[in-house]
Amino acid sequence: MSSKAIYVNTGGGYDKVSLGSSEAAAPGAGEITVRLHANSLNYHDFAVVSGMWGPSAPRIPMADGAGEVIAVGAGVSEFAVGDAVVSTFFPDWLDGTPLVEGFASVPGDGIDGYAREQVTARATSFTRAPQGYSHAEAATLTTAGLTAWRALMSDDSLKPGDSVLVQGTGGVSIFALQFAKLAGATVIATSSSDEKLERLQALGADHLINYRSTPAWGEKVRALTDNRGVDHVIEVGGPATLEQSMIAARIGGHVSLIGILTGVAGQLPLVQALVRQIRLQGVLVGSRAQQQAMIRAIDANGLRPVIDKSFALEQIVEAFKYQESNQHVGKICLSF
Ligand SMILES: NC(=O)c1ccc[n+]([C@@H]2O[C@H](COP(=O)([O-])OP(=O)(O)OC[C@H]3O[C@@H](n4cnc5c(N)ncnc54)[C@H](OP(=O)(O)O)[C@@H]3O)[C@@H](O)[C@H]2O)c1
Repeated sequence: MSSKAIYVNTGGGYDKVSLGSSEAAAPGAGEITVRLHANSLNYHDFAVVSGMWGPSAPRIPMADGAGEVIAVGAGVSEFAVGDAVVSTFFPDWLDGTPLVEGFASVPGDGIDGYAREQVTARATSFTRAPQGYSHAEAATLTTAGLTAWRALMSDDSLKPGDSVLVQGTGGVSIFALQFAKLAGATVIATSSSDEKLERLQALGADHLINYRSTPAWGEKVRALTDNRGVDHVIEVGGPATLEQSMIAARIGGHVSLIGILTGVAGQLPLVQALVRQIRLQGVLVGSRAQQQAMIRAIDANGLRPVIDKSFALEQIVEAFKYQESNQHVGKICLSF
């Protein structure tokens, strides 16, 4: 079956993005064929498509794909034709402790991704989608949703009354805010914009800090927590935010090292980490089993993702330019 697909040529760059077609073979044993209907955009996909970390060979981009099962191969009992499914970030990491390093097996980077209408893949490359979700909503979960879920619920064990700091209004941080509120935690949220802070408040954030007008926001977080600091920090900024994150964390607090929005290298405030006995945890999305646990929690609580805007498949470059403009709150999607 031939269907539309987006290709990024070797090295990446917006001028190397083109619309073509791809074949989806009939599913073999253990495989399913999915009619994809949506992707969601992440910084990692941006790096591949824009050429920041362009692919070493022509590649179909996008790690997050959601759609409907249209054919099932022999031996697949988990899915039936018509099921709504969503892709997993690491098709090879099904459960247990992390077994993956880097992006060699990640769809849209080391292998072809989901910016296409049809794909045949191992059934374990997908999980079922939450009940009642649109395909675009389901597509937000693969990377951003699961990263936030794993950081708070698997690497740490968030409980009612805990406190969480989330940075900015991107996909990961908004999911972290939503999961933290689901668990009964207090959320302190930062943003560069007062307008966006209002959106965070509407989503349940308990305390708001503009990190532009309050550059020493770590101290402000301490003041808001009776000088104790927060139990958990969702650290997406990188070198420019890590020191403040450590100031914001309680003694023995958990800092999830997730993002690199301000660069990939910098000085680590070692003394701060040491004397305050901070638990620094590198995070790389999560396993299929963690995705299934997240989806069970979503089904039980009716959580809906925040989608800022959707574009057509052919508008992929426009969508990434919109992401770059930093106007969004939550997720940006492609629907097709
Ligand atoms: N390790 C992993 O597994 C993993 C998974 C997903 C994403 N990530 C990484 O996490 C980061 C965020 O990803 P995303 O998809 O959520 O991005 P996104 O949707 O593009 O969001 C970016 C947002 O971050 C905020 N921001 C930018 N600079 C900031 C700073 N200095 N301090 C605080 N906030 C800042 C901005 O919010 P305001 O405009 O409100 O300030 C911006 O809208 C990226 O570096 C991405 O690569 C890592």
